[in-house]
Amino acid sequence: MDVLIPADAIQERVRNLAEEIRESFPPGAPITVIGVLTGSIIFLTDLIRQLNLPLRIGLIQASSYRGQATVPGKLYIHDEMLPDVRGRHLLLLDDILDTGQTLTRVVDHLRECGAVSVRTCVLLRKIGRQSVPFEPDFCGFPIPDKFVVGYGLDFNDDYRHLPFIGILPDDTNV
Ligand code: IMP
Ligand code: MG
Repeated sequence: MDVLIPADAIQERVRNLAEEIRESFPPGAPITVIGVLTGSIIFLTDLIRQLNLPLRIGLIQASSYRGQATVPGKLYIHDEMLPDVRGRHLLLLDDILDTGQTLTRVVDHLRECGAVSVRTCVLLRKIGRQSVPFEPDFCGFPIPDKFVVGYGLDFNDDYRHLPFIGILPDDTNV
């Protein structure tokens, strides 16, 4: 598999992102970091250990890609594992911004749940794919329009554990 972003480059960028994010919150703000399952889990665990802020963790599930399909379908939001976010400043994390549908919907949902503010951070942003206007507050790496896996990102639920971001070979059954 071709490596698009090596593991050490991810780690360095995560450290820098953590600094940018820390500086953006008012001192003493009550922060909850929300990860979009399942793709954000590795990013979340690495980032929070660099953030150096008192925070809580929450998880939400949003899935627009069913099974092997790489074309967005209907979006499902499951918030059964979400803690009470009323009165909290949220940092919403996702693995990748593709069309923008997922984060647009999840941000609206979190606001409806009573969050004071919602900042968004994506590890990757695919260039030329966005179908809805959405600007993340923080972004790790802009990437070309290729299907990528690793560091949380999957193809049919495989490859999430890879420590790097790789480009799925064309002959994989996408
Ligand atoms: P969006 O709603 O189109 O922005 O899609 C975001 C979601 O699609 C992400 O959370 C990923 O789960 C998935 N996704 C988009 N592109 C890729 C990719 O290249 N590899 C793996 N998952 C992807
Ligand atoms: Mg996924």
